[in-house]
Amino acid sequence: MGQGQPPADSPPDLEALAARAEAEIAAAENASDLNAVRAQYLGKKGSVAQVLRGIGTLPPEERGRVGQAANAVKVRIDEWVQARRTALESASHAEALAGRRLDVTLPGAGGSPGHLHPMTVMIRDVADFFLGLGFSIEEGPEVETEYHNFDALNMPADHPARDMQDTFWVEGDHVLRTHTSPVQIRAMTGRQPPLRLIVPGRVYRHDMSPRHSPMFAQVEGLMVDEDVTFGDLKGVLYAFARHLFGDDTELRFRASYFPFTEPSAELDFRCPFCAGDGCATCSQSGWIEWGGCGMVHPQVLANCDVDPERYQGFAFGMGLERGVMLRHGLPQIRLLYDGDVRVLEQL
Ligand code: DAH
Repeated sequence: MGQGQPPADSPPDLEALAARAEAEIAAAENASDLNAVRAQYLGKKGSVAQVLRGIGTLPPEERGRVGQAANAVKVRIDEWVQARRTALESASHAEALAGRRLDVTLPGAGGSPGHLHPMTVMIRDVADFFLGLGFSIEEGPEVETEYHNFDALNMPADHPARDMQDTFWVEGDHVLRTHTSPVQIRAMTGRQPPLRLIVPGRVYRHDMSPRHSPMFAQVEGLMVDEDVTFGDLKGVLYAFARHLFGDDTELRFRASYFPFTEPSAELDFRCPFCAGDGCATCSQSGWIEWGGCGMVHPQVLANCDVDPERYQGFAFGMGLERGVMLRHGLPQIRLLYDGDVRVLEQL
């Protein structure tokens, strides 16, 4: 504006200037209008600056009053500008909201759901199968006593079979269980046959290779009654293998030794990839090792106060990773436990 400046030697009419500024600020319709008005009054070359610059030409007794008044007007104009800016912003915000309606009843975009770990799928599959045969599912502690893990299973401290197990010792007479077999002892102690149970669970051994992990999973099976035979064992394991690996699956029982079974066998299933011709998966043998089994040793029954004259039982213990690796064509056991999402998403 700048017109209507008072002559240099008479005091400027600051009230009139303030009134004009207030009206123009109120009339500004957007941020750029407002910036222009502000520059006109408060800018370096604006009206208030001109007044301040003109002070030197006033009579000395007027200078202090005019200077103070000009500064006070500056402060007021600044406040009006800020208040107007806030009002303009909230108006444009409200306008934007009114234009963009939000329908809170629309369904959300949804996350990407995860899926069960392949080991969980396997364990559930195994449990399903045995529940169907009337077996119960039992558990035992992973930190186990030496008594349950070894002694009661016919492996006293000096027994050479203990060396096969690469045990992690914990404190005193406790170990990380090296197999699920100690749960046989827990299940039979204080109970009487008939017993039919499986024990899926983690076990630990000091061992590491593409096919071995220091933590892995087994499923133990135990059936004790008056007329249980090795034939029952074979029947159950055949049905189990065919459930997991297909109706044509063949099994091979190899005579073996475990302190807690007599007789004992190691168990292989026919490689489902080459049907026994030999391939990389089965190391050209046509068979894949699966676990151990046998008839429960009479001494083990006696250790649990089950009468070996009256009762017999069979037991088995299978590794669970082998089957999962086969199902998904995994070359290394580690891939199941590293928790690498890029791997898990493919399974
Ligand atoms: N506990 C044995 C192991 O981990 C496997 C095993 C063999 C379990 C024979 C059994 C059995 O129940 O009867 O090496």
